[in-house]
Amino acid sequence: MADVDRSGQMSYVHRIEGAPEDPDALADPGTLRLGLPGRPPATGVPARRGHSPTLEAVREWTPRSWRERPADQQPDWPDEAILEQALKHLSTLPPLVFAGEARQLTSSLAEVAEGRAFMLQAGDCAESFDDFTADAIRDKLKVILQMAVVLTYGSGVPVVKVGRIAGQFAKPRSSPTERIGDEDFPSFRGHSVNDLMATASARAANPERLLAAYHQSASTLNLLRAFAKGGFADLRQVHTWNQEFVATSAEGRRYEAIASEIERALRFMKACGIDVETAALHQVDFYTSHEALLLGYEEALTRQDSLTGAWYDCSAHMLWVGERTRAVDRAHVEFLSGVGNPLGMKLGPAAVPDDVVAVCDRLDPQHTPGRLTLISRMGSARVTDALPPLIRAVRDSGHPVAWVCDPMHGNTFTSPSGRKTRHLDDVLSEIETFFSVCRSEGAWPGGVHVELTGDNVTECLGGSEEILDLDVRYTTTCDPRLNARQSIDLAFRVAELLRA
Ligand code: PEP
Ligand code: CO
Repeated sequence: MADVDRSGQMSYVHRIEGAPEDPDALADPGTLRLGLPGRPPATGVPARRGHSPTLEAVREWTPRSWRERPADQQPDWPDEAILEQALKHLSTLPPLVFAGEARQLTSSLAEVAEGRAFMLQAGDCAESFDDFTADAIRDKLKVILQMAVVLTYGSGVPVVKVGRIAGQFAKPRSSPTERIGDEDFPSFRGHSVNDLMATASARAANPERLLAAYHQSASTLNLLRAFAKGGFADLRQVHTWNQEFVATSAEGRRYEAIASEIERALRFMKACGIDVETAALHQVDFYTSHEALLLGYEEALTRQDSLTGAWYDCSAHMLWVGERTRAVDRAHVEFLSGVGNPLGMKLGPAAVPDDVVAVCDRLDPQHTPGRLTLISRMGSARVTDALPPLIRAVRDSGHPVAWVCDPMHGNTFTSPSGRKTRHLDDVLSEIETFFSVCRSEGAWPGGVHVELTGDNVTECLGGSEEILDLDVRYTTTCDPRLNARQSIDLAFRVAELLRA
């Protein structure tokens, strides 16, 4: 992961193969091939008519080429020079993840795209500088591991585990300002930008927070790596992941039953002389992801892989582009088009099939399985009408994407007491409809993307031990999260759908 070059000197060129020497190639869109940085040229991938690459694609990509395009949702930094100083500092700090790990995740997501694995992407809506403890990280991992066990055991399908963690600090907002009392303040944009407190100084964007976010991501990732590989995630620990407040609930007891069966199966395998010392039983692969929103931050952590020469955004294994920033000709898509990481794209009910295909063409010119995960977040009432045209258009375009359901962001409403919330029934109903739409369209329902926490919070309504009063423990810095019990409930429901 050496050879960091922020001058742009060593940048790659997205070029149409053969274009300089062979102008005729441009005349036949059926033979055009686009090269992605550091990747071998694609062979025989036909370019789609109607979405054929144009000369636009013959342009230089560098980690900073996004700066030539309009960038949505960027904070109003009070002092450009201080911002650039912070970014310069970030660009000298070690990468958080390695290119080889990102490639490994791409391979696992290729299994998802091909219908042989299921993706569980989960974590906070927005990580917090205030709630930063080993216990909080551990408890979040516990719930994700429990959900993965329920899904794997219940469905027999391998589960690719990706946290919304170790970097999920920046939030897009529907309005740049927020009215609190009778005053307007800049909106809260996540702890890597400003603070939630309603004062002018707390809400001012502060570039030092980018460095704090980097360091919190590094420590979080350090602990996650230790947990994932150092014994905590060992399948023999399956009982210990069940926290007390979960174990006493209906879904906690249901989980205990599975945990006991797994324990029995491990003893049985051992008694039969099967080698149970294999790493697959004692370690997990756990990946990180966040929305690539603050492009200066992402640029500063983008490094050139010394093995392949390709650029990777080393702030996380996987990055996604949000519903508000996925326009094909703007800065976010430009930036993501040049990094080798696996990418996600959120799709709301207003997504237009041609636009979605155009972004797929930009981000995945070589039609690489695992490169793109499309995350549908329609709202339970809109899935049936909004999703099928997208699945069909993407299938016709030939991009081998994974389809994943985010049942959270289309189902948010404000409770009578003024809390932003979601009802577990709507969340489950969106997942069910997503499964049935995927199946009737011949697509594999490849995963779920949820906002959750290991804490015993009261942020989403519903569940077997119904949450009625949101005010008891409402601690999220942004959107409402499922608590551990509701998350396990959801995993059981999804396992049933996978079995069906
Ligand atoms: C999010 O995932 O927190 C988010 C803001 O999502 P979307 O872009 O789908 O609204
Ligand atoms: Co959210």
